[in-house]
Amino acid sequence: MTESITDYTAQIARIRKLAQEKDVLILAHNYLNDEIQALADITGDSLALSIAAAETDKSAILFCGVHFMAESAAILAPEKTVLLPNMEAGCPMADMVTPEGIEKMRTQYPGAPVVAYVNTTAATKAASDICCTSANAVKVVNSLPDKEVILVPDRNLGSYIASRVDKVCHLWDGCCPIHDELGADKMRECLSSHPDAISMAHPECIPEVLEQVDQVLSTGGMLNFVRNSSHSTFIVATERGIACQLRKDNPDKTFIFPDYEFICEDMKRVTIDDVESSLNTFEHRITIPEDIRRDAHRALERMLAIPRD
Ligand code: 13P
Ligand code: SF4
Repeated sequence: MTESITDYTAQIARIRKLAQEKDVLILAHNYLNDEIQALADITGDSLALSIAAAETDKSAILFCGVHFMAESAAILAPEKTVLLPNMEAGCPMADMVTPEGIEKMRTQYPGAPVVAYVNTTAATKAASDICCTSANAVKVVNSLPDKEVILVPDRNLGSYIASRVDKVCHLWDGCCPIHDELGADKMRECLSSHPDAISMAHPECIPEVLEQVDQVLSTGGMLNFVRNSSHSTFIVATERGIACQLRKDNPDKTFIFPDYEFICEDMKRVTIDDVESSLNTFEHRITIPEDIRRDAHRALERMLAIPRD
C-alpha cells in the first residue's frame, strides 16, 4: 500500500514546529517526494530555490534536493548554516565535467566564455564565467557580448540553447541520464495517443524529443505555463515528482507522462525521516573552501544580476 500525505500529517507538523523553533528555511525541489514538498516553506526549480537561498533572513537553510543545489545555497548565503539531509543525493550530470575539463575547452576555444549549468559542482562553477539554469539559459547566453561560448555540462540543454541564439556554441558532452533516455519514439507514441494535449519537455531531453513538443520549459516554467493555460490536458516530459505541484495547483487538469520510468533516484534519496533527523542534529552541513566559494559566487551572482521576466 502506498502512503498518502495524510499519513505524514503528524510528522509534518513536528517538522514545521522544529524548523520554526530553530529558524530554518526548508527548500524543496519540484522533483522531491510529495510529503517533502508538503512540508517545505518553498518549492521550486533551481533558479527559484537559489534566489530564495540568497534572499532569506533565516539563520539556516535545509535543502531538500541534490548536492549541487545545497552547494549553491551555501555559495550564495555563506553566513548561514546550509543542511543537506542526505549526503548520498548527488546529480550524475554534475560530476561529468571538472575544472580541468573546462581549462581544456578554454585552450581549444580561446576567449570564449564558459557558461556552466547550475547542475555542476562548486569547483566547476568557480572555473566558469557565468552560471545558468534551465529557466534562464537562453537569456544568460544572449546577455554575453561574445560571438562564441562554451556550454557545460549538458549537451542537450546546450544544443537547445544553440538552436535559440545567434552564437557559435561549443558543447561539453554530458547529460542527465534520466532525461537523456526518454526516446523520441516514446514521445511520439504519447503525442499520437493524446492529440489534443499540450506537450511540454525539459531542455535536458534529447533534441529529437524537444523538436516534437509545444513548449520547452524548466520545471518552474512548466508550473507557470499550466497555471496560466486554459487547456485541460498536458503531456509532461520530465521527472514525475513534478506531478505533485501540477496536481495541487490545477486539480481540474489532467497530466500525462510518456510511458517511461521518469524517476531521478537521487532526488528521492531525501526522506522525511532524513529531514527530521537533520533538523534535530543540524547535519549534514555543506561547507565550501572560501577561495572556491568566492569564484563560484561571482559566476552565480553574474547570472542573478540579469533582469528576470
Ligand atoms: P529545474 O531547474 O528545471 O528545476 O531542473 C533541475 C534539474 O535537475 C532537472 O533535472
Ligand atoms: Fe541530475 Fe537529472 Fe536528477 Fe536533475 S533529474 S538531479 S539533472 S540526474
